[in-house]
Amino acid sequence: MTYDPLVTSLLIGLSALNLLLLGAVIFMLRRTRRAVMRRMKADRSKHRRFSLGRSIWPQTESLIALYRILDGRAEFPSTRVMAVSPDFMLHVVKHIRRFAPKKIVECGGGTSTIVMAHMLKAFGQDAHIYVIENHEPSIEEIGEQLRQRDLERFVTLIAAPLIEKRYDGFTTVFNWYDLRSAAIPSDIDLLIVDGPLSLVNACARYPAGPELLPRLARNAHIFVDDANRADERRMIDLWRELYPDLVIRKLPAEKGCVELFLPAREVGNAFASAQS
Ligand SMILES: C[S@@+](CC[C@H](N)C(=O)[O-])C[C@H]1O[C@@H](n2cnc3c(N)ncnc32)[C@H](O)[C@@H]1O
Repeated sequence: MTYDPLVTSLLIGLSALNLLLLGAVIFMLRRTRRAVMRRMKADRSKHRRFSLGRSIWPQTESLIALYRILDGRAEFPSTRVMAVSPDFMLHVVKHIRRFAPKKIVECGGGTSTIVMAHMLKAFGQDAHIYVIENHEPSIEEIGEQLRQRDLERFVTLIAAPLIEKRYDGFTTVFNWYDLRSAAIPSDIDLLIVDGPLSLVNACARYPAGPELLPRLARNAHIFVDDANRADERRMIDLWRELYPDLVIRKLPAEKGCVELFLPAREVGNAFASAQS
């Protein structure tokens, strides 16, 4: 059977067009699939970032509780992500309300500083917050936030750049605050550990143990933020080697909250004597 050359050319042309269309459809399908996969991946990581393992509700409830405790006399900067989460802050605020610590030291300031300063003002508590901070924009920001809220008198902002530090038993170097010329009280009642930034080196916040625990008052408490992280868990284990009696209380919080203290002792500074 023979075909008219025109029909043959037409058939070949149509086949080529079909192939071209098929190729275009395959190309578009693959591109759409890639876009959908990218979107799903972004959504998953966004969900992880914002849910941080638990629902938003505990954070909302904690935030409402914080505002209620402060009886409408407070306005907080943003919480979560880099800043403390409301659930962690609620544990700290309840502790301050119950134990009325006079000297509060915080490593890594921000929203947490403002919330505590509001608390001291609202309750007329005779206490002072010393914030140790290395990140200059954060120092500026905290200063500005305090000024706007008329809270400056409750806080001493200690600008302390990070310097290299070495500790017995470690081959690695730590980058931690230079406190050589800082006026840190020697009888701290409450220590909040939320800095420096975890990325500066492994177990970045470990130095707070050897550097600040000997400065704690006998009945002092420590609150560790981000305690769900492996580095913070290791840090607490290492502090326990320095202070074997350290009591560890895990409190519910999306990023993890651990409260530490020594059992009551009869005399002397238990933190100082535990190390000697
Ligand atoms: C977890 S943040 C401290 C959060 C603080 N307690 C609060 O409630 O806002 C730890 C440290 O990260 C550092 N930091 C904060 N924002 C930063 C930024 N945008 N870039 C680099 N470092 C930052 C600061 O030095 C801060 O002390």
